Amino acid sequence: MKRNKILTEEQVLSGYVEQINEALREQLAYPSCLQDEVIDAMRYSLLDAGKRLRGVLVLEFGRLCGAPEQAALTLACAVEMVHAYSLIHDDLPCMDNDDFRRGKPSCHKQFGEATALLAGDALLTLAFETATAAKLEPAQTVAAVSALAKAAGVLGMVGGQVIDLASEGKQVPIETLDTLYARKTGALLRVSAYLGCLAGNADAQFFARADAYAKACGLAFQITDDILDVVGDEKKLGKPIGSDQENEKTTYVTLFGLEGARQKAADLLVEAQDQVAAIPGGIFLLWLADRILNRDH
Ligand code: IPE
Ligand code: IPE
Ligand code: MG
Ligand code: MG
Ligand code: MG
Repeated sequence: MKRNKILTEEQVLSGYVEQINEALREQLAYPSCLQDEVIDAMRYSLLDAGKRLRGVLVLEFGRLCGAPEQAALTLACAVEMVHAYSLIHDDLPCMDNDDFRRGKPSCHKQFGEATALLAGDALLTLAFETATAAKLEPAQTVAAVSALAKAAGVLGMVGGQVIDLASEGKQVPIETLDTLYARKTGALLRVSAYLGCLAGNADAQFFARADAYAKACGLAFQITDDILDVVGDEKKLGKPIGSDQENEKTTYVTLFGLEGARQKAADLLVEAQDQVAAIPGGIFLLWLADRILNRDH
């Protein structure tokens, strides 16, 4: 996004969110067909909802290293598709069994389990179709698709979800919880930063800073999610609270208490901010890290 006039960070954020929302609507503009039901479910879960944090990271890192705007936007859409799929599946009765998401009934509550499952699958595959359509150099496209696949896969988000489910009803040690969080939440946030840098041909040092920022933000983000699951307002969150307790999850709150969890998230955000403090024009990233901690949804 070009910044010709001085915008507040809040306005920059809404500008990004609007851009992503519009681009996603275009990506799902299919003509009517026999599989309208599943396309409706994809639209229902993907469009005009969510904070778009992952897409915003792609766009902001892309902007900072001079990525072509359209290519970064396409990659932002691809990551948001993977994320939306992960939420649909996360809410299924065989996983967290949650009935609300993004302020409305979860996909399976609205469309039934089979359609929700398939809408998730279709969003995941569409993400890769979308990523290959970002107008990048062939080598960049290969790197983008490969990184997104790894982040979404068994050593990334899916792996984290597997450990998450296997840990239900058990007290897991902090080392396991950190690995679980790095995978289920951190992997997609890190690849978002990576994709922005990749689209802008960043140098190795910039990639490293972006990665360290996203890694720290990723853990802080999940810790804040744990805190909100206990003290959040369901209306603002758009999803149920108490889900972690109901599913007997170990979280930062169960291990360290609310204050301990808050402190850990605050430390991580300082760590994240240190990484980007020296980047010219990096003020939005400083603000965004703060926003991750001080959020109510
Ligand atoms: C929810 O992610 C799942 C977690 C990894 C904690 P978000 O809180 O980013 O969900 P949306 O995209 O804003 O709905
Ligand atoms: C989910 O973590 C992470 C995903 C990969 C979707 P949670 O299960 O804590 O996310 P919420 O609280 O349901 O959004
Ligand atoms: Mg879950
Ligand atoms: Mg959940
Ligand atoms: Mg949660």
